[in-house]
Amino acid sequence: MSFEEETETTPLNELEQIEINLLLEGLYQKYGYDFRSYVRTSLSRRIIHRMRAERLPTITALLEKILHDPAYLERLLNDLSIRMTEMYRDPSFFAAFRNEVVPLLRDLPEIRIWHAGCATGEEVYSMAILIQEEGLAEKTKIYATDINEKALRSARKGAFPLEKMQQYTKNYLRAGGKKAFSEYYTTDHQFAYFHPIMEDNLTFAQHNLVTDGSFNEFHVILCRNVMIYFNNDLQQKVHRLLYNSLADGGFVGLGSKESILFMPPGLDYEEFNATERIYQKRK
Ligand SMILES: C[S@@+](CC[C@H](N)C(=O)[O-])C[C@H]1O[C@@H](n2cnc3c(N)ncnc32)[C@H](O)[C@@H]1O
Repeated sequence: MSFEEETETTPLNELEQIEINLLLEGLYQKYGYDFRSYVRTSLSRRIIHRMRAERLPTITALLEKILHDPAYLERLLNDLSIRMTEMYRDPSFFAAFRNEVVPLLRDLPEIRIWHAGCATGEEVYSMAILIQEEGLAEKTKIYATDINEKALRSARKGAFPLEKMQQYTKNYLRAGGKKAFSEYYTTDHQFAYFHPIMEDNLTFAQHNLVTDGSFNEFHVILCRNVMIYFNNDLQQKVHRLLYNSLADGGFVGLGSKESILFMPPGLDYEEFNATERIYQKRK
C-alpha cells in the first residue's frame, strides 16, 4: 500500500498529541507554515511516518531537526501535503463546467481562472485543454497555486506518467473532450508531456491558503479536494478568501466530497450546480 493510500491509524497517546501540537507550533513560529487547523488524523499519521523515515525516536526529536535543518523541513512539508490528483478528476464536473459555465464566460473580455491547491497540475492542464477547445485560450489567464513547492516544480513540467494515459483518456472523453486525447501530448518511454499547452497564459506560483491573502480578482476559482483536510474554522477562513477573490457573478468549484455547510454566513452564493459543487457569487 502506498503512503498516499495508507489508511491505518493507531490512536495517539496523550504525550504524542502534545508533541504534535508543539511540532505544529514550531513549524508555524519558525517558518510560518500553519498546519495547526488541519484535520489531525491524517496529519499525525504523516508526521509519524516522517519521524520513522528519518529514524528518529520521538516527534520531539523530529521537531528539533526541523528547527535546525531546513532539509528536514522540506521532506516533512512534502509529506504533509496530500497530492492525490488526476486529469479530469470527476469527469462530470468538467462536463458541467464546459456545458454550463463556459457559455457564461464567453463574452468576458478577459477570463481569469485560479486553481487553488493545484498539486502536480493535472487539474490545471485538464482545464487548459478544455479552454483551448472552447476557443477561449487567447483571452484566458490561468493561475495555479499550491503550498507545496515540490509539487509545483513537477506541475511546471506538465509531465505525467505514461501508464495513467489510458485512464485520463477515458476521463477526458467522459468530460466532453472533443479530440483524440493523444493530440495534446508527446511521449517518451516514461511520461506524457502536456507542456506547452497555453504556456503563455499559465502561471504556477506558491501560495498558502491559510496565511496568504487574495492576489487578483477571478471569474473562476477551483479549490477542489483541498479544504477536506481543514477543520471547520479554517474552511470558513478559506471560503472567505475565495469569495473575496471572486468577481461578482464568478464561479467557485469544490471537490465532490466537499460541502458548503462550513461556509461562513454572509457569502452570497447561488447553487449553480449543486451536484457538481459549482456555486456562483451573486451579482
Ligand atoms: C489532494 S490535492 C488536490 C489537487 C487538485 N485540486 C485535485 O482536486 O485533483 C490537495 C492539494 O492542496 C494543497 N494544499 C494543502 N494545504 C494548502 C494550503 N494551505 N495552501 C495551498 N495549498 C494547499 C496540497 O499541497 C495538495 O497539493
